[in-house]
Amino acid sequence: MSTPAVPAVHFGFTPGDVVLVTGAGSGIGRATAIRAAELGLSVAAWDLNGDTAAETAQTITAAGGTAIGLACDVGDADQIAAAFAETKKVGTIRHLANVAGPPSAIDLEFEQALVLCVGSMRRMVDVWLSDGAPDGASLVNIASVAGNVIGTNSDWYCASKAGIAGYTRHLAAYRSDEVRSNTVAPGMTDTPRLAGFAESEVGQRVLQRIPLGRMGSPDDIAWTVLFLLSPLAGYVNGAFLPVDGGWTVTQ
Ligand SMILES: NC(=O)c1ccc[n+]([C@@H]2O[C@H](COP(=O)([O-])OP(=O)(O)OC[C@H]3O[C@@H](n4cnc5c(N)ncnc54)[C@H](O)[C@@H]3O)[C@@H](O)[C@H]2O)c1
Repeated sequence: MSTPAVPAVHFGFTPGDVVLVTGAGSGIGRATAIRAAELGLSVAAWDLNGDTAAETAQTITAAGGTAIGLACDVGDADQIAAAFAETKKVGTIRHLANVAGPPSAIDLEFEQALVLCVGSMRRMVDVWLSDGAPDGASLVNIASVAGNVIGTNSDWYCASKAGIAGYTRHLAAYRSDEVRSNTVAPGMTDTPRLAGFAESEVGQRVLQRIPLGRMGSPDDIAWTVLFLLSPLAGYVNGAFLPVDGGWTVTQ
């Protein structure tokens, strides 16, 4: 018997529906895009870096899936509008994973960071739903355990990640007639931005406090995002879900 092109379990997604993933050129966003395609979704892979977005899309199409890769800075309203116009040509955008966000290690001006991190997610949602929400629309916004469960040393990062969780609760409470909304909060996840962190002194200390004894993988986060986006999670709305190996319950 030949291997099916997609796994037998589709999480209830309708094949061919589009999931739009921001930050899809690397790490969690790339894993979400690739796993979504394995579940039969068409993928719009957006990233600040158009080359890495295209690589993600190529990986998907080479495996027999459907994807487009687009350069889009989610901090730029004009780029968002243009990328939505392209993405709508692929099919009905029924699911949105807002993954893109700057690394905590960089120095950002506080107010600008909040606009970039939280404001961009709000703009994505408003533009997406401006033509009317498709039936069964769902979204996941990526926050972090930082700012929500624990404090870390970047002021703008903690504040913006808490802001994302709060904004998502607003959507869940007041826009549930349009879209089902949930937040995923990764813990220490092994993506390019944390390269070398696990081996550092601080990384070792954090690792020792993670009950599951390892960093998360991009797939650990991706599968959680996809479950929450899927019809199988049809009664989950307004959840804040840490995916951190139990790290924060030990704090
Ligand atoms: N890795 C972790 O431990 C961790 C922990 C908690 C939360 N997160 C969050 O998960 C998300 C993904 O992080 P990751 O670890 O996969 O990082 P990553 O650096 O591997 O990937 C992030 C991607 O987002 C893109 N990006 C950044 N700013 C953008 C913008 N303005 N517009 C469009 N694309 C943009 C980057 O080009 C990159 O391809 C981020 O929001 C991050 O804050 C990560």
